[in-house]
Amino acid sequence: MKGETDESRATLGSRLSAVLVAAGSAVGLGNIWRFPAMAGDNGGGAFLLLYILCVIVLGLPLMLAEFSVGRASRRNAVGAYRKLDRRWSFLGYNSVLVAFLILGFYYVVSGWTLEYFVHSVTGTIGRYDTPDAYRGIFENFRIHPWRPTVYAWIFVLITHGVIALGVRRGIERSAKFLMPLLFVVLVVLAGHSLLMPDSDEGVRFLLRPDFSKVTPRTVLAALGQAFFSLSIGMGCMITYASYFNKETDLRRTAVNVAVLDTVVALLAGLAIFPAAYSAGIFSSAEVPTAGPDLVFITLPALFNSMAWGGLWAAVFFLLLVVAALTSTLSLHEVVTAYLHEEWCMSRKGAAGLTTVSMLFLSALASLSLGMLSDWRICGLTIFDSLDFLTANILMPVGGLLTSIFVGWRFERRLLRRELGIRGRQRSGRLTFLLFMLRWVCPVILLAVFLDNLGLL
Ligand code: PHE
Repeated sequence: MKGETDESRATLGSRLSAVLVAAGSAVGLGNIWRFPAMAGDNGGGAFLLLYILCVIVLGLPLMLAEFSVGRASRRNAVGAYRKLDRRWSFLGYNSVLVAFLILGFYYVVSGWTLEYFVHSVTGTIGRYDTPDAYRGIFENFRIHPWRPTVYAWIFVLITHGVIALGVRRGIERSAKFLMPLLFVVLVVLAGHSLLMPDSDEGVRFLLRPDFSKVTPRTVLAALGQAFFSLSIGMGCMITYASYFNKETDLRRTAVNVAVLDTVVALLAGLAIFPAAYSAGIFSSAEVPTAGPDLVFITLPALFNSMAWGGLWAAVFFLLLVVAALTSTLSLHEVVTAYLHEEWCMSRKGAAGLTTVSMLFLSALASLSLGMLSDWRICGLTIFDSLDFLTANILMPVGGLLTSIFVGWRFERRLLRRELGIRGRQRSGRLTFLLFMLRWVCPVILLAVFLDNLGLL
């Protein structure tokens, strides 16, 4: 294959880098505010078991599928499918489109985390004392005519700075610095939270298995979360794997990424709930325990009630900024690599065009929560429609078609080579993987998709 000898293309320096960049994409805001709240509400330890099962059954086979497509072709998402089977190029376009649309609102939320980080550092976040006051602040901030947009733009420009430096000097170097930083910060936060008095109630909330709360809906929710959290179905893993070197063991990398992603989600829960229960912040029914409100209303109020609250708030929002940044980098790269390779633009030009489009789209998404809230698509604001369209439709469809492509159309010889399966010795594993990709993943993803549309 021509791609194998394509020496001009960037490759990551080491196997560790492969794990770090891919884990950087996977670990994001979804781990830190979505997973813990979901687990708490859906049966704690029971949800966790279910989630791990979903990661193994659905997440790992699909990640391996995307890794194989990426490294076998050594192309951006569109180029990868075009090279492997021209008729499937549309799947590459779907990936680039999802990445583009997700970025539109992900930058807005990332901008909020940056604004809150800045306020924690300057101390302005510690000025209020009730969760209600924090609710007012957050709601006013969200609809402010320019502040959230400016912060989203700053985030876009920071991401641009790293992407423009290139794969080795930008993405790889930043992952080597940011991922260890993220772990240290998270471990410190979780340790501090667990050491607070009466923190065990929070641990119980997160981990005590309650199987009575597990319904078919819970299973689908766990699946959707596993999918989003592992960044599957939008070309990130294809694009990153196209930079992996030949020595990288795809199976081991996928397992490491999935384990790291799950550990981060759990640690995030341990950083939030024990501290929140210890401070008695959830005793009022008014206080949100999930979603952005948990992070931007409940937690600032919680930090405010702690000794050294400003410091803890700064550390926590730094964690969010870092988690968000490693994810925006991967999405920005999907679009940049596509423009660079398919439109024959220079890398800097491609990054620049992606950035300019993002300045525009993120401003629209941000303003749609305030000034432009009357602009609706099927009754949803621009922000919500970007979220709905990507999470509920394009991503599951992308995953579904990826599993079908790799299960049925991808050359078996290439798959064996990419996965390092030689001879008859390990054929059982390949048969198992193919069974999952051909039958199990498509059926499950179809169910997720239909459920998202309210058809199930
Ligand atoms: N996996 C990221 C998270 O958990 C989100 C993400 C989705 C990142 C898609 C990149 C691509 O938040």
